[in-house]
Amino acid sequence: DAAYDMIVVSNRLPVDYQEGPEGETQWKSSPGGLVTALEPVMRAADGAWIGWAGVADRDFDPFEHDGISIIPVPLSAQELEDYYEGFSNDTLWPLYHDVIAPPSFHREWWDAYVRVNRRFAEAAARAASPGAVVWVQDYQLQLVPKMLRENRPDLVIGFFNHIPFPAYGIYSQLPWRRQVIDGLLGADVIGFQRAADAGNFSRAVRRLYGYTTRGSLIEVPTGDGDVRRVVARHFPISIDAAGFEEIARRPEVQARAREIRSSLGDPEVIMLGVDRLDYTKGIRHRLKAFGELLRDDRLSVERATLVQVASPSRERVATYRQLRDEIELMVGRLNGDYSTLGHQAIAYLHHGYPREEMVALYLAADVMLVTALRDGMNLVAKEYVACRFDHDGVLVLSEFTGASDELRQAVLVNPHDIEGLKDAMVEAVEMPERERARRMRALRKRVGENDVARWSASFLKTLTGAGIIAPGVP
Ligand code: G6P
Repeated sequence: DAAYDMIVVSNRLPVDYQEGPEGETQWKSSPGGLVTALEPVMRAADGAWIGWAGVADRDFDPFEHDGISIIPVPLSAQELEDYYEGFSNDTLWPLYHDVIAPPSFHREWWDAYVRVNRRFAEAAARAASPGAVVWVQDYQLQLVPKMLRENRPDLVIGFFNHIPFPAYGIYSQLPWRRQVIDGLLGADVIGFQRAADAGNFSRAVRRLYGYTTRGSLIEVPTGDGDVRRVVARHFPISIDAAGFEEIARRPEVQARAREIRSSLGDPEVIMLGVDRLDYTKGIRHRLKAFGELLRDDRLSVERATLVQVASPSRERVATYRQLRDEIELMVGRLNGDYSTLGHQAIAYLHHGYPREEMVALYLAADVMLVTALRDGMNLVAKEYVACRFDHDGVLVLSEFTGASDELRQAVLVNPHDIEGLKDAMVEAVEMPERERARRMRALRKRVGENDVARWSASFLKTLTGAGIIAPGVP
């Protein structure tokens, strides 16, 4: 095995396997915020990325993609069901997002989670050079830090949780709550999106293990009377802001933005929602508010169109299938009730799009609606801001996103409060140009300064400062 000084381990690789028309292998960019954030980091580092290729029962040899060394980890169809769709996305995901949907607890799912976590840990142990930095990502792999430390005590191990960490009253429902904490404490540094998430984690450690915590330090007894210090604190993630702006400045992308506007019938206002089709994103709340504004004549379809991109996600999990049905029923009804032959109320797109097309949509959108009920960060909000070099556009942002800790000049909303959300949408539509520019400038300053390079540098600096200084780290 090749030896790498820097390794990222995540459930999903930056590319998903797709079978081409002649049965040939094609690699397509993966969905979600984790990949958006880590891809530029890994392209700049000389490391390897270990993860699953997005398809069951297939084993792939390591390969290079876009300057990144990719090491695929296989999953069987049964593991996909139990570890990924089951424990990761039907137990942990709803539990960590404040039980917006009820989590299911199944012992076979847990067993698969342990088994698959061990496989990822073994792959990392094989690929890591002596003293290497291994950075484990997200809720699917919480047991990997401990498993890796047992096998390779020489490694510097970081963990970053991309989603929220819930309050103890919710977390403590998890039948395996001690094992998960124990798994995470194998890391030298455990990163969270928000200070509140890190606080929830430290509280869970105190309640379940009684360990001493001092600020962001947790003292984990080593058994020989000594302690190992683990850092648990927040490192809010970001995007490659300059990269998004560069795409937005391309003449062909701006031309595409104009084309999008005219193909929608040149409405005065385009509102935009961009989400994975997930119940955490508050898509129903957004549609309800928009529908009531049309019903009450506070908006009209001649004046405003809502474009909703809902990219397909986790479609084999029942909650996601139900959500899709509910959303499509709502969209169909609203379009039936309010669209005219020249003007559609909602343009609903159940697809993922390449980055250039997303940037054109951001440029075309006068109002960006991020109404998540709970979201670790929400990088779509930051992408919108990064693209608006024209200092125009209004961001309506849920206070239940990590992004709202930083993006204070957005129009902040509680999406559960439909009246408040409606008022915020109208405020955004009617906001004077000067006010829009003032807010967007402030938002852009924040996103431009705190980009993803800064995020990874800050995490890795804490990591290498916390443990042994490892070679080959930027
Ligand atoms: C979120 C999670 C990621 C996940 C992504 C896409 O951003 O934090 O870990 O990869 O959603 O979800 P999926 O289940 O398709 O990987």
